[in-house]
Amino acid sequence: MTRITEMHDIHPVFPSILSTNFFNLREKLDAFEANKIDFIHLDVMDGHFVDNISFGPSASKSIKSNFDFKIDAHLMVSNPGKMIPKFIDAGSDWISFHIETREDIKENILRIKKGDRKPGLVLNPDTPVEQVFPYLDDIHYVLLMSVFPGYGGQSFIESTLDRVAQLKKELNRRKTDCLIQVDGGVNTSNIRALKEAGTDFFVIGTFLFNSDDPPGTLNGILEKINEV
Ligand code: DX5
Ligand code: ZN
Repeated sequence: MTRITEMHDIHPVFPSILSTNFFNLREKLDAFEANKIDFIHLDVMDGHFVDNISFGPSASKSIKSNFDFKIDAHLMVSNPGKMIPKFIDAGSDWISFHIETREDIKENILRIKKGDRKPGLVLNPDTPVEQVFPYLDDIHYVLLMSVFPGYGGQSFIESTLDRVAQLKKELNRRKTDCLIQVDGGVNTSNIRALKEAGTDFFVIGTFLFNSDDPPGTLNGILEKINEV
């Protein structure tokens, strides 16, 4: 059960650099590396699927060449089929794309797997969870958005908790070990409930990047996640 071991070894927090002040990004990434963060969440926006523009493949390449982090590339683009090979070439380890793009989903999953990367499917807050069920045996993780994609610093959408529980129930029923990731407005006031609902990984942006003490904030988050 290789994947189970992997999951337990991976730090549950995936910092999102979208809302960073680029002039202290290295300092923040050094602090995350020192605190055993494994993955950096890279929000890729094309100004079409969402009305914002962010990072390209070069961001993945430069982080990988300067740090030991793995990259989790969240593709908020209308043409994932064209972008996936570029992020594979740029060393991204996990690559997720939106089910709402309506491209050939199985084909894009295969594209990611052929590049020996882990595929993920992303659902917007108003996309029925059932839509991802046909793909659960083909993907490594499902990313449930807890905000509508496009910006950091938005408020957490509470109905996400029921959606996580619904997805977890289906994963258990199928005895698949596909993982659950949540992204958007995550902080210490909602992370415990997300964990209890069945979330494995937590993307966190402003709550971490606005902190003057990232190590302290990270420890506070871990305490909440591991609370018994
Ligand atoms: C939003 C992005 C998120 C965002 C998270 O479209 O996908 O990853 O950066 O940031 P916070 O935690 O500030 O909501
Ligand atoms: Zn994201």
